[in-house]
Amino acid sequence: MLMEHFGGAGHSFEIAQKLQGKGMLIGIDRDEEAIETAKIKLARFNNVKYIYGNHDEIKEILSELNINGVDGILLDLGVSSYQIDSRERGFSYMSDSILDMRMDKSDTLTAKDVVNTYSEEELFRVINEYGEERFAKNIARNICEERKKKEIVNTSELVEIVRKSIPIKFQKDGHPAKRTFQAIRIEVNDEIKPLYDTIMNSIKILNPHGRMCVITFHSLEDRAVKKAFTDALRKMYLS
Ligand SMILES: C[S@@+](CC[C@H](N)C(=O)[O-])C[C@H]1O[C@@H](n2cnc3c(N)ncnc32)[C@H](O)[C@@H]1O
Repeated sequence: MLMEHFGGAGHSFEIAQKLQGKGMLIGIDRDEEAIETAKIKLARFNNVKYIYGNHDEIKEILSELNINGVDGILLDLGVSSYQIDSRERGFSYMSDSILDMRMDKSDTLTAKDVVNTYSEEELFRVINEYGEERFAKNIARNICEERKKKEIVNTSELVEIVRKSIPIKFQKDGHPAKRTFQAIRIEVNDEIKPLYDTIMNSIKILNPHGRMCVITFHSLEDRAVKKAFTDALRKMYLS
């Protein structure tokens, strides 16, 4: 029995194929569209369970399925390219759309809310901490200045504010809005705070000799995952 995030169902396809006749794949995603895509892509397999949910509730999800443990877990963190490429989801600084960025459309907080209602200090904290953006102070200040004139609604408006906040000579290293968009997306989807507990809980539901793999995309995820693994190992040696 294995668990994984569906996303575009790339890993899931390979896993389900290898498990055929031998085991079951439980795919979890907080994005209903990812579940629907997976159902189409994996239609030929009868060993897949589709769970619309948050991996932060991994223990509860398994207990509802009456499953005590799994042999493998693959956590492929962050956003999928499908989400980024779906213009109307508002994740991308490359195309214009309403600022949204919710992976789970039933969540209430959107990127537009963060940009228009957070205080300058809160915006600074988010952009500095989750974007590791050295010009976070300028960006937070300019967002607050601009929204006094009118509500900031579109991704292109945010991109323009970020551009104006970063000196030209520092705009050569990738798209200038990349770090700010990452930061706001992480805040909207609460991607980092629960991660440590999620890894700890995931380790607890592994069967003996089970394996867990985590694919991270940036250093913030990396740190949380490494700390959880180190602490779990330490606890094992001490117990
Ligand atoms: C990088 S993609 C996974 C790609 C997938 N492994 C593949 O091969 O196509 C990450 C997926 O994880 C989902 N996701 C992110 N955080 C999640 C969470 N806390 N709970 C459930 N799903 C989550 C996203 O909605 C996205 O679809």
